[in-house]
Amino acid sequence: MSRIAYVNGQYVPHQDAAIHIEDRGYQFADGVYEVFAVHQGRLVGEQGHMDRLGHSLSELQIDWPVSARALGVIIREVARRNRVRDGLVYLQITRGVARRDHPFPDDAESALVVTARRTPPLDKDQLRQGVGVITIPDIRWLRHDIKSVSLLPNILGKQQAREAGAYEAWMVNEDGMITEGTSSNAWIVTKDGELVTHNAAYAILNGITRLSLLEAAEAAGVQFSERAFSVDEAMQAKEAFVTSSTSHVKAVTNIDGQSVGNGHIGEMTARMLDLYVDFIETKGGPQNTNTWN
Ligand code: PDD
Repeated sequence: MSRIAYVNGQYVPHQDAAIHIEDRGYQFADGVYEVFAVHQGRLVGEQGHMDRLGHSLSELQIDWPVSARALGVIIREVARRNRVRDGLVYLQITRGVARRDHPFPDDAESALVVTARRTPPLDKDQLRQGVGVITIPDIRWLRHDIKSVSLLPNILGKQQAREAGAYEAWMVNEDGMITEGTSSNAWIVTKDGELVTHNAAYAILNGITRLSLLEAAEAAGVQFSERAFSVDEAMQAKEAFVTSSTSHVKAVTNIDGQSVGNGHIGEMTARMLDLYVDFIETKGGPQNTNTWN
């Protein structure tokens, strides 16, 4: 089966899909993106992703290329044409094509690309197996709430993690606080049993998986704190995990080469994974998505 991509109004074979060399996404990373998980044939957290996309676009003064409603239809169509029952949909909007010049062009039309690919279905056993993370300095710009395609610090960090044999790199700001992973949100269960993830500020990307999990925790009566936590606190934590549309809820059992707790997934993390899967299967994603409105 050949893959199909959507590019500016057309569904085209993936291998032929192309954009212009003067697209500002290519030249300036002047664009935004979203990654949607597809779980058992359903888009996870669609409304949350759309609201966050609206926030990213409006902060950068990029026009919606089509209405949010039309975009929903396109995303589903790309998933359908690629027969994605479990997998990912990638959506990218850039400011469009214009002669290379730093200020916003007057006449460019924002450009839209949507692709989709299958992945193995969510596998709890695999997510329960712990992975390692390393800590690295957070060298990004200051607007992490905008899901910009400008990801150089993130890919450099992820590469560093790979070279260290780790799954993810947790980024540490100048105050010694862990903000988030290069493509995921960071969570710990402190030595006192407190479930903690960084508060949603400019410092992090407010993950849709994060929001789902917070709502699932609240509904289950699990206490949590949204606050910054230090590397020291993480090193002493009983448990740790990451969340994202690609990693779901994934146990972290090693930080900078040191075991977290007993080096195996902890009770709270296992519970969070179960709560998350139940939550997306029953609710489809976060209900309270007015965080960005
Ligand atoms: N990344 N923080 C960062 C920096 C991210 O890039 C991501 C997602 C997240 C988690 O967000 P969500 O739960 O909405 O996926 C947090 C996507 C998956 C990516 O870049 O591929």
